[in-house]
Amino acid sequence: MRVLITKNYDEMSRAAANYVAHRINEFGPTAERPFKLGCPTGSSPLGLYKHLIKLNKAGLVNFENVVTFNMDEYVGLPVEHPESYHSFMWTNFFNHINIKKENVHILDGNAPDLIAECEHYEQMIAEAGGIDLFMGGVGPDGHIAFNEPGSSLSSRTRIKTLTTNTIQANCRFFDNDVNKVPKQALTVGVGTVMDAREVLILCNGPHKARALHHMIENGISHMWTSSMLQMHAHGIVFCDEEATVELKISTYEYFKDKQRIEGAIEEFLGYYNV
Ligand code: GLP
Repeated sequence: MRVLITKNYDEMSRAAANYVAHRINEFGPTAERPFKLGCPTGSSPLGLYKHLIKLNKAGLVNFENVVTFNMDEYVGLPVEHPESYHSFMWTNFFNHINIKKENVHILDGNAPDLIAECEHYEQMIAEAGGIDLFMGGVGPDGHIAFNEPGSSLSSRTRIKTLTTNTIQANCRFFDNDVNKVPKQALTVGVGTVMDAREVLILCNGPHKARALHHMIENGISHMWTSSMLQMHAHGIVFCDEEATVELKISTYEYFKDKQRIEGAIEEFLGYYNV
């Protein structure tokens, strides 16, 4: 696992966005061989999306042959609701880049048969040839997508009941009213994310410090589902300094030293300059 510790949220977002754009460009997607990108919602990726938009507008990355699969969606929230993950993705990313509508995949939390919807989603990912790069954030309790503590580490796309912790964390988007937050979601499984050829996680802010500690320096546990990243052959974490406060000093120094030797942050920031 690579862990990149950036100065702050802005640097994290720019370095991660440049990294993603570079991966797409290296792959050289075509209509016959598109790049499959897994997308998260939440506040963590907002800066990354803003930067990818800038790169796209500057002609430095092209989404014409990029196919996306989103991580999750609330159950029972109308698609046009401003807090649906459909709205989030179109408002914050897809409306501003040259992606084709038919290349966007987001779970339908209003499907008449939710189980069939989840099975169909897995099938679509498989038919597309798997995901090349899955981007993600983490919840304060270390969850990835909506794989709440206790989720099977080999889980697939399914319905999940949200925990009180997640409902409280997300009520800021619903007038701070826990009763307005949907109680269930459809989510890709931990196994679905881990099947991607590469997984990139964003983790920023002091409220994510415990999650980062469990994700990278404790053992793998279904109570901190993002810790499964330790099993992935190509896992990369972009965090900011604030998220590192629960790490052992030796862990922090180890990763800082490694990135200094590799010149990784400078390399990523140097890919594109917009
Ligand atoms: C929700 C989403 C996750 C996201 C998490 C953290 O639970 N399902 O995919 O990572 O929120 O969100 P934020 O980035 O706003 O902290």
